[in-house]
Amino acid sequence: LNAIRLGFLGLGTVGGGALTALQEEHEAITRRVGAPLTPVRAAVRDPRRPRTLRLDGIELSSDAVAVATAPDVDIVIECIGGEGVARVAVMAALEAGKSVVTANKELIAKHSRELFELADRRGVDLAFEGSVGGGIPIIQPLRHGLTANRVSQVVGIINGTTNYILSLMTRSGEPFDKLLAEAQAKGYAEADPTDDVDGHDAAYKLTILAMLAFDTALGQEQVYREGIRNITPADIALARSLGYRFKLLAIARDRGQHLELRVHPALVPESHPLASVNDVFNAIMVEASPVGQVMFYGRGAGADPTGSAVAGDVIQVARNLRSGGVRRFPLAVGERRAVAPVEAIESSYYVRMEVADRAGVLAMLAGVLGRHEVSIAQVLQTKGQAGDAAAHSAELVWVTHECTEAQMQQSLAEMRAMPECLEVRGFYRCFGVDA
Ligand SMILES: NC(=O)c1ccc[n+]([C@@H]2O[C@H](COP(=O)([O-])OP(=O)(O)OC[C@H]3O[C@@H](n4cnc5c(N)ncnc54)[C@H](OP(=O)(O)O)[C@@H]3O)[C@@H](O)[C@H]2O)c1
Repeated sequence: LNAIRLGFLGLGTVGGGALTALQEEHEAITRRVGAPLTPVRAAVRDPRRPRTLRLDGIELSSDAVAVATAPDVDIVIECIGGEGVARVAVMAALEAGKSVVTANKELIAKHSRELFELADRRGVDLAFEGSVGGGIPIIQPLRHGLTANRVSQVVGIINGTTNYILSLMTRSGEPFDKLLAEAQAKGYAEADPTDDVDGHDAAYKLTILAMLAFDTALGQEQVYREGIRNITPADIALARSLGYRFKLLAIARDRGQHLELRVHPALVPESHPLASVNDVFNAIMVEASPVGQVMFYGRGAGADPTGSAVAGDVIQVARNLRSGGVRRFPLAVGERRAVAPVEAIESSYYVRMEVADRAGVLAMLAGVLGRHEVSIAQVLQTKGQAGDAAAHSAELVWVTHECTEAQMQQSLAEMRAMPECLEVRGFYRCFGVDA
């Protein structure tokens, strides 16, 4: 049997995890592929740095493009990350007629069109299961098992760092900044947490999911995005007392004439399956016809889970190479779809507001919502905060049924202009209230 030769670009968390997965199950994998998979080259930033990986038989280099185009490499596994060297090396590998496996969500979300076209033109595979959901198989299910379906919605918790911080905030009642610092000290959050806490990472992943689900070309800049920095312990506690959990959700919906694509914190009813996805776990729920609802759950990051996804792709690509069936699942992208501006999305909402504690105020606010055809699902009046008593103020929290964001924003603008409305303290979208 001719060995299939692998060239790794990057041997960090994911590259190292994939290499180890392929080595540990070498015999079984050889059986499953029908030929051994042999790592022959790897590019790293510093080839002289001591590593704990098994590197016998692997030639290390610092030149990613040289590894990507080496004549003795059959499959290129890109685990460097970003859109610099990684993009240049992946393009070079595809151009050289090599199939590529990558876990790089930023690369796929930003450059899908040119990469898919190039892979198609050169007749090779480009696989990216590791780019979304870590160890959870979601790319292959969307492209294969669910491919007979019309997808109406994909909603997920697809960033482990923010889910970890929100889970801790819910359990401990402590503020975001303190828990972020603790997560960073434990290695659960990056030194620069922007990509995670401001929703960029989730937006890349949602772009990829939506492209596959709706068969359309999309850019990550089309995703409406809000992060979790402004969520306060007070909002977490009030949401809990109303029966909700805060989650950073990534939502893609097909609304017929347009798509909704958004990443933002949302209140999820505690009876909803996504509400019990905690800590570093991820989950993705797909609604499609004829299958109905399908849910995927598992570890969303880390060497072992992501290594599993990348190694799985390598095996699929190797099988295709052996059978001559490369491009069995072409990445053709359908026609462009319009994406709705945030004002046009439909959601239910949570609003926390400090109001004058006078007779008739609640009725006035309800009147504003009524004029904009926004109906209320739940109301809670908490006592005024410390010091509020002197000012005769009270705090009102309400959750609405579904309406458009424009209806909600117009109602809030009218309320803010009323002297009885002292301050809007919290404004969040909800998910699954009317389900
Ligand atoms: N970490 C996760 O849990 C996870 C999950 C899903 C997807 N991903 C994605 O997987 C990719 C890799 O992430 P990671 O966490 O594995 O990163 P990482 O641990 O920082 O590893 C990066 C690797 O790339 C090498 N490298 C960096 N610059 C290079 C260059 N110019 N030329 C050659 N090699 C270079 C590094 O070499 P040295 O070893 O010499 O430093 C290192 O081996 C990213 O796209 C990330 O978004 C990560």
